[in-house]
Amino acid sequence: MLCSSLALANEVAVAPAVSPDGLPPLGETWLAENPYRGNPAALAIGRDAYNQACARCHGADASTNAAPAPDLRQLNRFCKRTSDAELNAACMRDNDAYFAKTVRNGKVIVGVTHMPPWQGVLKQELAWAIQVFFESRVTGRRE
Ligand code: HEC
Repeated sequence: MLCSSLALANEVAVAPAVSPDGLPPLGETWLAENPYRGNPAALAIGRDAYNQACARCHGADASTNAAPAPDLRQLNRFCKRTSDAELNAACMRDNDAYFAKTVRNGKVIVGVTHMPPWQGVLKQELAWAIQVFFESRVTGRRE
């Protein structure tokens, strides 16, 4: 659906009206890794924040691969290929670094904003909670 991602060009990032209270606060400096995996509050908060801020491009409730922007459930697919715990941890560190960098900077390619930058708009608590949410969604079959 490349044509529809062009239609999304130059949109601005709007902060979701979701409070990160209930999550351990993280401050201003972005962490290198997601600190919230396994935290049920992160799952619920992340779902609300995802549906307000990300769903219009990445698909409602992170449950489709037919949205104009990439299916975020696939983001850590390479890490899932290994059963080696150490390799998996290293892969997930790279995955988290890529996630945080992409969210903060957006995706601006040859002057066209495919995704707006979220730095200064989306609190890192909400960003990591969003990642916890979409990682919890089952990918299984292709829709
Ligand atoms: C205005 C539409 C739009 C919104 C809103 C949006 N994104 Fe994106 N996002 C995109 C597009 C388009 C791409 C693919 C850009 C490219 O690589 O050309 C993308 C790519 C990404 C990627 C990289 C995916 C990959 O496979 O490399 C991540 C991570 C991401 N977005 C996270 C988010 C999160 C988290 C939110 C909500 C806070 C969000 N996005 C909101 C349009 C959007």
